[in-house]
Amino acid sequence: MTHTGEQKIQWAQQYMPVLNAIRARFEKEKPLTGHRIGMALHVEAKTACLVRTLAAGGAEVYITGCNPLSTQDDVAEALREGGIACYAQRGCNTEEYYAAIDKVLDVHPTLTIDDGMDLINRVHLDRRDALPGIIGACEETTTGIHRLRAMEADGKLEFPVIAVNDTPMKHYFDNVHGTGESALASIMLTTNVLIAGRHVVVAGYGYCGRGVATKARSLGARVIVTEIDPRRALQAHFDGFDVMCMEEAAKVGDLFITTTGNCSIITGRHFPLMKSGAILSNAGHFNNEIEIPWLAEHASAVEHRDGIDTYVIDGKKIHLLAEGRLVNLATPKGMGHPVEVMDLSFAVQALSVEYVAKHGCELAAGVHDVPTEIDEYIARLKLAAVGATLDALTAEQKEYMCSWNHGT
Ligand code: NAI
Repeated sequence: MTHTGEQKIQWAQQYMPVLNAIRARFEKEKPLTGHRIGMALHVEAKTACLVRTLAAGGAEVYITGCNPLSTQDDVAEALREGGIACYAQRGCNTEEYYAAIDKVLDVHPTLTIDDGMDLINRVHLDRRDALPGIIGACEETTTGIHRLRAMEADGKLEFPVIAVNDTPMKHYFDNVHGTGESALASIMLTTNVLIAGRHVVVAGYGYCGRGVATKARSLGARVIVTEIDPRRALQAHFDGFDVMCMEEAAKVGDLFITTTGNCSIITGRHFPLMKSGAILSNAGHFNNEIEIPWLAEHASAVEHRDGIDTYVIDGKKIHLLAEGRLVNLATPKGMGHPVEVMDLSFAVQALSVEYVAKHGCELAAGVHDVPTEIDEYIARLKLAAVGATLDALTAEQKEYMCSWNHGT
């Protein structure tokens, strides 16, 4: 009988036409031959399809997780059975988490792929022995890019990194639709509560927050947005959401979802204002958006259920999902983003890795954009896969768009 991890991988693969097309070319051309790729990503079925695409391109691939709670152990096992070195383990502690990253670095990778920048951070601070061999890297998520840009500004980033997150083919779809659908799906499966009619507070109206807010409204929620950026706050207002500060939102919210990539969004200032039964969750990269130590310190009791910790404070119950980690991946039933969006995101990853393998040595240390040709190529592959056709600019239109001479 087929392994459950293998079944999950095969299930995902059938809905990844863009990555499959890249894999077919990689199998023929072997553009990654001679490379060792070190990865720290959420180890689940779609990631396994990326791993196999890179291996099909001739690379040796070594992978671990990028979050202690997001690994699917059966998928990790299936990868190992297929000959990939995979060190990820669900529920590992911090020490085990970094020990697994060290195992990836022990092979002295030539290319790396991160989701959140823990691997790049480790190699620059603690594992400098592995630094000279790295030609370049790719980073998957907003938080990783924030950290990399801060590192670059400090003059500390020592190799080129492609900002996969920042390209339209990633964040227009992955952050918006991927996070939007999967965060809510995971919350619904974990809690079994109705979204319709609930006051859902979404903290942050960036790509992820906009996705979560829009999908929650489509399920009938009354959505409140909190922001610090006045333009994004106004955008939320014009999109039809209530906008208020967290101190006000805390009093009315039934379900809270943080998506800021910032720290200390819901804190000890807010918990006492909340209703009993409030459900808290985070879809941002790190588990520091909700001040969990405050809850632990002030609770008279904590009840644990699968994926839910209930803090009893002054007779009120505050429920926290997935220990405040990425709710779409870290709840027991969380499967992460829908397959189709990861098809696009991982297609960007695969082609960016190929680009770094070819051009990494020519690129300066620092954060680089994904080349536009890669982004457009992926969009064209996806359009072809969904059977959509596209107009092309005529010679007349090209001339018109480039001219400053056409007036009334
Ligand atoms: P973004 O930069 O587009 O949006 C973040 C928003 O949060 C901004 O509008 C910002 O003004 C707002 N914000 C910052 N501090 C705030 C505060 N104190 N209160 C209220 N709002 C505040 O970033 P994006 O792409 O939406 O990513 C957000 C986070 O989600 C990042 O940590 C990213 O790594 C993570 N992410 C998670 C995914 C998942 O699978 N759950 C997928 C993709 C990204």
